[in-house]
Amino acid sequence: MGLVTTTEMFKKAYEGGYAIGAFNVNNMEIVQGITEAAKEVNAPLILQVSSGARKYANHTYLMKLVEAAIIETGLPIALHLDHGDTFELCKSCIDGGFSSVMIDGSHHSFEDNMALTKQVVDYAHERGVVVEGELGQLAGVEDDVNVSDEDAKYTDPAQVEEFVSKTGVDSLAIAIGTSHGAFKFKGEPKLRFDILEKIEERLPNFPIVLHGASSVIPKYVDLINAYGGDMPGAQGVPEEMLRRAASMAVCKINIDSDLRLAMTGTIREYFALNPSHFDPRQYLAPARAAIKELVKDKIVNVLGCNDKA
Ligand code: G3H
Ligand code: 13P
Ligand code: ZN
Repeated sequence: MGLVTTTEMFKKAYEGGYAIGAFNVNNMEIVQGITEAAKEVNAPLILQVSSGARKYANHTYLMKLVEAAIIETGLPIALHLDHGDTFELCKSCIDGGFSSVMIDGSHHSFEDNMALTKQVVDYAHERGVVVEGELGQLAGVEDDVNVSDEDAKYTDPAQVEEFVSKTGVDSLAIAIGTSHGAFKFKGEPKLRFDILEKIEERLPNFPIVLHGASSVIPKYVDLINAYGGDMPGAQGVPEEMLRRAASMAVCKINIDSDLRLAMTGTIREYFALNPSHFDPRQYLAPARAAIKELVKDKIVNVLGCNDKA
């Protein structure tokens, strides 16, 4: 089996009231940790690559790592461009073998977002690739774009039908209060489930995507803080809220920061306990194992996509 698209995954997830995990990948250990976890619990997977990841690791290396993971696990795996911001970037990923792309036109006007998204959809669909669009803006940092909390804009449910029907997108990322990174809420975590309900009513059976969905697991933030880090106020989306979203129209839940925290916390601890070790395999192996444990827990206890491959 080669790469799959998300079409079948999302159909089953919508009907089954669960979500597929979309995990960001940047190197071999991250790909291995995620895919070994999914294999153990028989879960379908979306592995996603940001433009920053593509610059860091190179398109071909990431492609080949994911192909290797398919051979090793036999799982249905989609390879997705995360936050594509131009037609050219999406085209390059489509031409280079990705099975899914996101065109994030959320920083443009509604009309310009629709025009750009439709251009990508037309190109992608002719080549059997699926497209995620975005309406509304998350707070936080995406690559070099910084959106302050005050500028975050919730998705307007009144716009979703027109956006989906005119562009032909296969899934839609929405803004209901999550944000990227490790500092998601200043006070009490709050998500606008009322907006999600309205979107769900207007787009029956249509897969919704939740970005900025790391829970910022305290265990790993504590490790970072215990070994020289300084992350006061780090806070993520409570797992209970993610379970609720997964039981609704949300079929894809994006997780990156939790992987970064698990990897970094584990490596910081490793060096604190083994200050003179210098073989990268010695500290990358426990980091990979931490990612595996984290992803298994997400799949089984939060997303509910175990045994759905
Ligand atoms: O939404 C952003 C993802 O966490 C990717 O982050 O652009 O730093 O690779 P990155
Ligand atoms: P987190 O920063 O919450 O992991 O979100 C990742 C994401 O949305 C990638 O597109
Ligand atoms: Zn995102």
